[in-house]
Amino acid sequence: MKEPLLTVHDMEVSYGAVQVLFGVSLEVRAGEIVCIIGPNGAGKSTVIKAVIGLVPAQKGQVEFDGQPITNSPAHEIPALGITYVPQGRIVFAQMTVADNLEMGAFLKRDSHKRREAVQAVFDQFPRLYERRNQPAGKLSGGEQQMLAIGRALMMNPRLVILDEPSLGLSPKYVDLIYEKLLDLKRQGRTLLMVEQNAARALELSDRGYALELGHNRFADTGAKLLANEDVRRMYLGGA
Ligand SMILES: Nc1ncnc2c1ncn2[C@@H]1O[C@H](COP(=O)(O)OP(=O)(O)OP(=O)(O)O)[C@@H](O)[C@H]1O
Ligand SMILES: [Mg+2]
Repeated sequence: MKEPLLTVHDMEVSYGAVQVLFGVSLEVRAGEIVCIIGPNGAGKSTVIKAVIGLVPAQKGQVEFDGQPITNSPAHEIPALGITYVPQGRIVFAQMTVADNLEMGAFLKRDSHKRREAVQAVFDQFPRLYERRNQPAGKLSGGEQQMLAIGRALMMNPRLVILDEPSLGLSPKYVDLIYEKLLDLKRQGRTLLMVEQNAARALELSDRGYALELGHNRFADTGAKLLANEDVRRMYLGGA
């Protein structure tokens, strides 16, 4: 079995006096799609925010490619090869689609390389190419999510972390975003995502972790979690 690309071990996080993670652990191996599922407030976003240095972990270890990165500052994370697509399709609304993508390549000094990276995203998302000169704020929600994902690809990351990529999108765009995520996996990318849309996420994922109130509750392959009656009852609305 391959060495994990990302390992989170026994992570504890508090906001002020309120502890919200109580020893969460997970692994992501190269080439996998891994999802974290769980109800509102379970701590899904907090796990990834602690991985990428947006909130401090009081306890536990994070390793990326065998190196300890626990509590590395957020600004050092992209250079390690980890990019993040936050919850809520955050784009620079006044800037054009093309300029939003360029912003994703802020570590690439060479403007020629930046343009190549923009072109690669346009090849992946033809819809963004069609709208390249429009302000990002004019795009539909699904297009903005594509743009946020495209921007995260600009650095050619080794791990892409996505928080709720399908939240609030129409069914058509949910399908499209999920198809794109599968495409990225087929191209050899590694993805860690948080999803409340647990059934869809597990269908797509190699493995999943189900959290409950800041604890690991279930961990298995996506297919086995989908087939597990307790998981179905607790996380998939009993469906
Ligand atoms: N900045 C913050 N300050 C204080 N408490 C916070 C903060 N962010 C999150 N929390 C609390 O931490 C807990 C876990 O929140 P988190 O956002 O990680 O959950 P989540 O599983 O991502 O939920 P959701 O599905 O609603 O996005 C919740 O009780 C939440 O209220
Ligand atoms: Mg969240």
